[in-house]
Amino acid sequence: VTAQVLVVGSANADLIVAADRRPGGGETVLGGDTRTLPGGKGANTAVAAARLGADVALLGAVGDDANGRLLLGSLRDAGVRTEFVRVVERPTGVAYITVTPDGENSILVSPGANHAVAPDVVDGALEGARVLATSLETPLPTVEAAVSAASAAGVLTMLNLSPVASVGESTLAALDVLLVNEHEAGWLLGESREKESALLDLGPRAAVVTRGARGALVVTADGVTEVSSPKVTPVDTTGAGDAFAGALACELAGGVDLVASVRTAVRFAAVSVTRAGAQPSYPALSELE
Ligand code: RIB
Ligand code: NA
Repeated sequence: VTAQVLVVGSANADLIVAADRRPGGGETVLGGDTRTLPGGKGANTAVAAARLGADVALLGAVGDDANGRLLLGSLRDAGVRTEFVRVVERPTGVAYITVTPDGENSILVSPGANHAVAPDVVDGALEGARVLATSLETPLPTVEAAVSAASAAGVLTMLNLSPVASVGESTLAALDVLLVNEHEAGWLLGESREKESALLDLGPRAAVVTRGARGALVVTADGVTEVSSPKVTPVDTTGAGDAFAGALACELAGGVDLVASVRTAVRFAAVSVTRAGAQPSYPALSELE
């Protein structure tokens, strides 16, 4: 039996400090106690999909250290398969996260082991998958190889363009779903601030633009559909985009259509921002009602 959702991506220990404001260059700011929580865009996405009930595997790498064990534990507790997570001789990825009282975060990532995820390991992992979900904290050649192999195998391909980077034309053209936030969409569309529908000119079959408290836009050849978000009080938005990606992957793997999948993903992500951290903040299916 193979997983319905394969996530190719990162796993990081998130070192989170609450502070009244983020330090500027050359400045020292005192914050609260450090909390170490499981994160990383790939692991977050996998855990989110698993919380919603998907059969999901992560393909990635951690180090042989306490942070690596924290990540593997969190993945296994959520029911994510870890047979494609390699333990390598690099430190586990670490994300240094500052959270301010408005729930906004800024993140500095030290990729470590995530840089050891090589393109050649992807092929066997795709067998039986319905959805490939990936993002940009693992090396670009690995992401591109995964998208190309998945697309050739008829697996639905989804790329979360985060952290934003330029991706090859053929990779964009092989995407079923390009997932971006407003900042990433602006970066892709350039100065001209073209309409979101221009995202399809880059090659993907569909694009989804997440808009924080305003929900999301679904862009397809049929037009643009707005999906609104329930109103919530944000505590910590860390990993909300990954929550969205994981929920979307789960729904799409279950054969749900794109707009309905986005509706679920918006609700899932909205709950996640009301709680601290990334993975620990993701609701179970029963909490979504
Ligand atoms: O998207 C949120 C994630 O970005 C955090 O969990 C952190 O690890 C960084 O990868
Ligand atoms: Na959260």
